[in-house]
Amino acid sequence: MYRSNTCGELRISDAGRKVTLAGWVQKVRKLGGMTFIDLRDRYGITQLVTEQAVEVGREWVIQVVGEVVERQAKNAKMPTGDIEVKIDTVTVLNKAQTPPFTIEEVSDGGEDIRAKYRYLDLRRAPLQRALALRHRLAQEIRTYLDGQGFMEIETPYLIKSTPEGARDFVVPSRMNPGEFYALPQSPQTFKQLLMVAGYDRYFQIVRCFRDEDLRADRQPEFTQIDCEMSFVEQEDVLNTFEGMMRSMFKNALGVDIPNPLPRMSWYDAMDNYGSDKPDVRFGMKIHEITDLVQGCGFSVFDSSAYIGAIAVEGCAEYTRKQIDELTEWVKRPQVGAKGLIYIKVAADGSIKSSVDKFYTPEQLKAVAERVEAKAGDLVLVLCGAKRKTQTQLGVLRIEMGGRLGLRDPKVFAPLWIVDFPLLEWDDETQRFYAMHHPFTAPKPEHEKWFYSDKKEDLERVCANAYDFVLNGTELGGGSIRIHNADMQSRMFEVLGISKEDAEYKFGFIINAFKFGAPPHGGLAFGFDRVCALFGGQETIRDYIAFPKNNQGRDVMIDSPSKIDQEQMDELFLQSTVKE
Ligand code: AMO
Repeated sequence: MYRSNTCGELRISDAGRKVTLAGWVQKVRKLGGMTFIDLRDRYGITQLVTEQAVEVGREWVIQVVGEVVERQAKNAKMPTGDIEVKIDTVTVLNKAQTPPFTIEEVSDGGEDIRAKYRYLDLRRAPLQRALALRHRLAQEIRTYLDGQGFMEIETPYLIKSTPEGARDFVVPSRMNPGEFYALPQSPQTFKQLLMVAGYDRYFQIVRCFRDEDLRADRQPEFTQIDCEMSFVEQEDVLNTFEGMMRSMFKNALGVDIPNPLPRMSWYDAMDNYGSDKPDVRFGMKIHEITDLVQGCGFSVFDSSAYIGAIAVEGCAEYTRKQIDELTEWVKRPQVGAKGLIYIKVAADGSIKSSVDKFYTPEQLKAVAERVEAKAGDLVLVLCGAKRKTQTQLGVLRIEMGGRLGLRDPKVFAPLWIVDFPLLEWDDETQRFYAMHHPFTAPKPEHEKWFYSDKKEDLERVCANAYDFVLNGTELGGGSIRIHNADMQSRMFEVLGISKEDAEYKFGFIINAFKFGAPPHGGLAFGFDRVCALFGGQETIRDYIAFPKNNQGRDVMIDSPSKIDQEQMDELFLQSTVKE
């Protein structure tokens, strides 16, 4: 027996017991003739004390036998802080090199070094808490879905491209020279085939792979809670997964979320928040003011299709320097605005603006009223094409919300975004793209436009598609699917995919739909994102045991890496990279 107890377990009621503990040496302190050792495992830290001379160092793995005694100086911050273990014998199980950074709650190591020694970083309490939360949530999900009659079914990783909109990772096939598998961007087509096969409630906590630009909430391989149901309408899907989220919030965090959850149409989200994933923890809504400010001789506004504004609470005192800084901020390529107009509503109600000379105080007051600005508020105005300007205002709103401390990670404001447009026109390539993915069905009442050849008609088609949004992050999304071969072929046609190409890439699913496909729909949540937001973080990396860095590298195992010529030959590959 290596240990009788863990390092997080012993309490004052254990005083007098003989115990054996094993773990890592976190800290050694010598005080007079006494040596104090903090011994750590994943359950906690226990203080050891001895008068013997012991030779141990940081991160050594030791086993001690000793007696639990009451501490002289108690530490109320530690669960084991009332006791210590008086050492009888110490056995060194393994020595350790001095770790390259401190393994404490807050480490002194930078991100790169901690990534290289991830197994040491994972010893730290914050990462252990993160992975424990991930584990807890996975259990909640399985319990809830099992209780609802869902079956967990695995789908393959070596497949053919699925159109989720990112690049595929591909794997060369040795047995099929010149041919490649694609790793799934999601199990989308397989879960639909499972519906055709009659497994009417499917789920899987599954790895997905997307070769896309990485951000705080994006990894090249990430995990989905992937679900699909047959014989359902949108309402059934939303209710089922609202229930799952409710039980996760309640059981993992003790938080009650509203019942039912608020819903907002995609159009309202864009108009009021400039985003299809609005952060509704705070107001600061966007208001259109085009009708109030056009035709007064200010050419920038007169030549804009849309003019919108937000009121930032209590910021009328912003100095010239602060406004200039904010103007530069909105002009950065990430935001892309051309400039920024402001209206300050002073504490006494008087108004000052960067466009004073074009407008009377009454006109500016009308704008302030429209955007619900009160005395002391700062109104920020952007103009341009409608959706683009709304999106820029949305980014500015999030920034100002952050600066004002309105984005408290301990406050949770989940909601559904519904009624997405089915298609999105892209000016550059002059074609439609599926807003969700090409398997999403048009709303039945919009089918007439779906079969029209007019661009305006196709732009009006909405889908029974929905996103689950939490605190400004898209946690999940799904839709009611097409389950009819002709409609699926029409979809590929609308997307400009030729008959031959559709047959080559998706023939298997169009075919399957000819063999009695039930009406079906589903969704997938980003599990890493769920964990991070539940843990109060925006970065998913800490919630993944072995994540990749922003260049898609695992710096611990140094991957990706070259393969030898023999392997290349076997796979019929030739590199064009110049050494
Ligand atoms: P979608 O593409 O919206 O839908 O993905 C579902 C959810 O997965 C998460 N997600 C990611 N998380 C981390 N890193 C990434 N690179 C990443 N990409 C996506 C997001 C997102 O909401 N098959 C459909 C679902 C369906 O229709 O049922 C799909 O994959 O949280």
